[in-house]
Amino acid sequence: MVHESFQTVKGQINWDHPMYRLYEKAKRNGRWNPADIDFSQDKEDYNRLHLEERISILPLISSFSAGEEAVTLDILPMIHVMARLGWLEDTMFLTTFLHDEAKHTEMFSRWQQAVGVFDIDLSVFHSDSYKRIFYEALPESMERLYTDDSPEAIIRAATVYNMIVEGVLAESGYYSFRQIFKKAGLFPGILQGIDYLNMDEGRHIQFGIYTIQRLVVGHDDRFRLFHEYMDELWEHAFGVVNYLINLAEEQQKLATAPTILEFHPDMMRDYAVKQFEIRKSKIDRVKKYDSLSELEAALGS
Ligand SMILES: [Fe+2]
Ligand SMILES: [Fe+2]
Repeated sequence: MVHESFQTVKGQINWDHPMYRLYEKAKRNGRWNPADIDFSQDKEDYNRLHLEERISILPLISSFSAGEEAVTLDILPMIHVMARLGWLEDTMFLTTFLHDEAKHTEMFSRWQQAVGVFDIDLSVFHSDSYKRIFYEALPESMERLYTDDSPEAIIRAATVYNMIVEGVLAESGYYSFRQIFKKAGLFPGILQGIDYLNMDEGRHIQFGIYTIQRLVVGHDDRFRLFHEYMDELWEHAFGVVNYLINLAEEQQKLATAPTILEFHPDMMRDYAVKQFEIRKSKIDRVKKYDSLSELEAALGS
């Protein structure tokens, strides 16, 4: 591919572009360092838990660790396709996105090392649903962007990456972390990390929403494609959540000692369902516009 022109010599960066504004936000708010988080209390807390309690939290840790690693490794084709299309502001924002995901991966790895999760292959906690999403659907739909820059391919990639993995699974995971650990007064270090992650993911989800919105606006067939793919992935996404909840419930039934860890299965399931519905409704919001220029005018870009 050769360049035919450059945006910044014919004009300037579009400072009002939603993705440029997000890039500014990322520079301001994304300046935390996982290496600065103190996990010493987390280590003490972890050592105080009895074996069954430790086992009951590892599936959640395992899902997040591999999940953050997957999104770090799989974001490159999205950057590649936006750059190929010459979408400068989006590409600039995505430079912060990849850096964020690398820090998230680092954070979970540092925590495991700090508390002493050694010599356990945590992939035993990856269910078939988890594998369908993180081992297959995510890399497949992302990698396709190397050779396919069609709106349909970008919509599919952003749907699995930003709407399902980040918008439903990561958001539901933060909720569980807070429900279980905050209430039990455990793991202040990782909870601080989760607050940072949550803020970063807010920007990532906004990127996904905008990307899908700009491509579906005025195109009923693309709206349909988005909804169909969401519904197809939902079965597996809910499978991931359900598996983790069932595992925790079983563990509690088998427990031989009282536990300070509280799981609320129904609240967790309801939360995941709600996230799914919110993501869909955000995309549906642009149904009131007939074209991209109408949407852009509404966004002030
Ligand atoms: Fe992340
Ligand atoms: Fe993310």
